[in-house]
Amino acid sequence: MALPKSVLIREVGPRDGLQNESAWLDTNEKRTWIDLLAAAHLPYIEVTSFVHPKWVPALKDAKQLAQSLNKIEDITYAALIPNEKGLAHFFEANLDVGAMFISSSETHNKRNMNHSIQETLSVIKQMTADLKAERRSTRVYISTVFGCPYEKQVPMDQVLRLTESLLSYGIDEIALGDTIGEAHPLQVERQLDILLERFPADKIALHFHDTKGMGLANIYTALKAGITTFDSSSGGLGGCPYAPGSSGNVATEDVVHMLQKLGIETKVDLPTLIKAAEWIETKIDRTLPSHCLRAFHSHTTS
Ligand code: HMG
Ligand code: MG
Repeated sequence: MALPKSVLIREVGPRDGLQNESAWLDTNEKRTWIDLLAAAHLPYIEVTSFVHPKWVPALKDAKQLAQSLNKIEDITYAALIPNEKGLAHFFEANLDVGAMFISSSETHNKRNMNHSIQETLSVIKQMTADLKAERRSTRVYISTVFGCPYEKQVPMDQVLRLTESLLSYGIDEIALGDTIGEAHPLQVERQLDILLERFPADKIALHFHDTKGMGLANIYTALKAGITTFDSSSGGLGGCPYAPGSSGNVATEDVVHMLQKLGIETKVDLPTLIKAAEWIETKIDRTLPSHCLRAFHSHTTS
């Protein structure tokens, strides 16, 4: 299939990135980073997560942050929500997209959400109805689609069943998560062949972690299969604290750079995006995995 003309990037760094960091960023610092990401014209930013603060202490200021954002009209602001209690906080914070999550692996779902897949599905069904009643958009991550730290390979039938149930609830978008960065291009091609026979490509986004350096190759494969929405994280931050072996999402700078080279429109301004990644790197105080961050930084300082 021909490559698409444009692609939608969903920036997840402030949520997926910070949830896995031991460094504490205060609310002002988080907001500054989000402002820098917005200045790069990212169309969509997942800003935080309304999970239990004991489970993810780095995001314990979720409501305070979400309520104090310097919102820009053209940008969609999303947050992760695990349950009705998180949903109540989401509504108080008045964000645009409720991003819910479930795992295709029973063991990972239990470790990550303290509930079975069936229990989580019921919660998502109710939250979807509540979100729709309030005219919010809905997204659900299905984790461990390409590999699980506990159950290894999850059967494709399980992913299909979950996708079907979730779409039947009226979910706007399903993000297939390569939670621990196990996916490789041949697997992505095969799994998308099966999925896209049954579900429209515009309902599916891909969320690759880059643990083994396969993120860009996987995105290229998915582009060729017709997918046009991808998650990524500024600087390549990220990881699920409840999935051993998980590391950062594919870096947004690297994705935007590759898409530019492929002639695919994203509307994102790469130099400003790199400034945002440089800024968060100073706060996290470790070298981030983004290739473009290194390449452009050394280029401008040499
Ligand atoms: P639980 O302990 O089963 O919750 O946790 P519960 O319903 O039994 O309630 C226990 C207590 O927690 C109660 O308080 C509740 O009010 C409170 P008490 O009455 O004892 O004082 N509580 C909450 N407080 C604040 N916010 C809430 C909330 N819910 C209950 N939302 C829960 C269940 C889901 C909350 C917990 O397991 C949790 O927070 N898990 C989140 C783990 C997480 O954030 N993982 C990382 C994100 S997923 C990910 O990274 C993957 C992804 O990127 C895609 C991919 O890469 O594949 C999305
Ligand atoms: Mg993730």
